[in-house]
This record gives sequence, structure tokens and C-alpha cells, in this order.
Amino acid sequence: MALKQIDHGTKEYKQMVNLRDAVLRKPLGLSFSPEELAREKEDILIGAFDEDEILACCLLTKVDPETLKLRQMAVQNNLQGKGIGASLMTFAENLARDKGYRKLTMHARDSAIGFYEKFGYKTKGDEFIEVNVPHHIMEKKLR
Ligand SMILES: CC(C)(COP(=O)(O)OP(=O)(O)OC[C@H]1O[C@@H](n2cnc3c(N)ncnc32)[C@H](O)[C@@H]1OP(=O)(O)O)[C@@H](O)C(=O)NCCC(=O)NCCS
Repeated sequence: MALKQIDHGTKEYKQMVNLRDAVLRKPLGLSFSPEELAREKEDILIGAFDEDEILACCLLTKVDPETLKLRQMAVQNNLQGKGIGASLMTFAENLARDKGYRKLTMHARDSAIGFYEKFGYKTKGDEFIEVNVPHHIMEKKLR
């Protein structure tokens, strides 16, 4: 498996959007708007690949000079629970650290809180609804 940064608008980016659509949006009856995807030009886009096949992805959006927001973390449905998400998370954190960021924040689906807790993320504040599902803010200082 190869973990790498992806450029917006490339073949890999299209694969990433299809994966996110299948794992994160279609099951909720939702899809991505062109405006939403255009805004990702500024983001750090990350994918895990096995040769030409995308296995997992996530992206990092700048919040302020010290903070990135982790978004759109998704592992192919039939490959979940095999450690791919953990590898991706470590890669994303290392990349954020290398770029000089000191904190990661996110809107975590409640169903995934246990996954992020394994990496030391803590929930902050009350539950809220986003894309029709319960979420919590989770954060971690990068060391
Ligand atoms: C959540 C997700 C990214 C985790 O990736 P994954 O590859 O399945 O997770 P891993 O196999 O790397 O698991 C790492 C550890 O977290 C645990 N874990 C994984 N998913 C979990 C979950 N949803 N809740 C609690 N623990 C979880 C695993 O049991 C494993 O624990 P261990 O180290 O004690 O063995 C992935 O399952 C996924 O894409 N889920 C659907 C989409 C989603 O919910 N995305 C997150 C939106 S905020």
C-alpha cells in the first residue's frame, strides 16, 4: 500500500471523490456539489493506493496557521477493520506536523469516535447533527 498526497483535478482525485461518495454520502442519500469540490483546491488531499486502486482517503483543511481540520476520512467498505485507517491517520498526522501545524480538529461522526480515541483525540462540546448524523468535535495537539 502506498500513502501519498493527491493533486486536485487529477485521476487520483476523481477516484478519491468516488470513494468518499460511496462510503460517506450515498449511504445517507447525499452527494457532493461542484462548489464543495472546487473549495478543496486549497486542501491537503491524501490517498492510500494499491497500485492504481484507491483504498482509503482523507483531507486536511487549514483553519488557522496552527490548526488543520481532518475531513472526509473513508476506507473502502470491504476493507474496513484491517488497519488501513490507522495507517492513513498516522500519515496525515505526520504530514501536518512536517508542515508545521500543532493541532488537528475534526467533526467526527459519533460512530467513529472510538477510532479517533485510539489516536488520543478528545471530544469537545455537545453533540450536533451534520449530514443528518450525530457528530462531536474532536481535537488533538500534535507533538
Ligand atoms: C472509521 C474508519 C475510517 C476507520 O478505518 P479502518 O481502516 O476501518 O480502521 P482500522 O482497521 O485502522 O482500526 C484501527 C483501530 O480502530 C478501531 N476502530 C476502527 N473503526 C472503529 C469505529 N468505527 N469505532 C471504534 N473503533 C474503531 C479498530 O478496532 C482498531 O482497533 P485496534 O487498534 O485496537 O485493533 C473506517 O472504518 C471508515 O471509513 N468507516 C466508514 C466511514 C466513516 O465513518 N468515516 C469517518 C467519518 S468521521
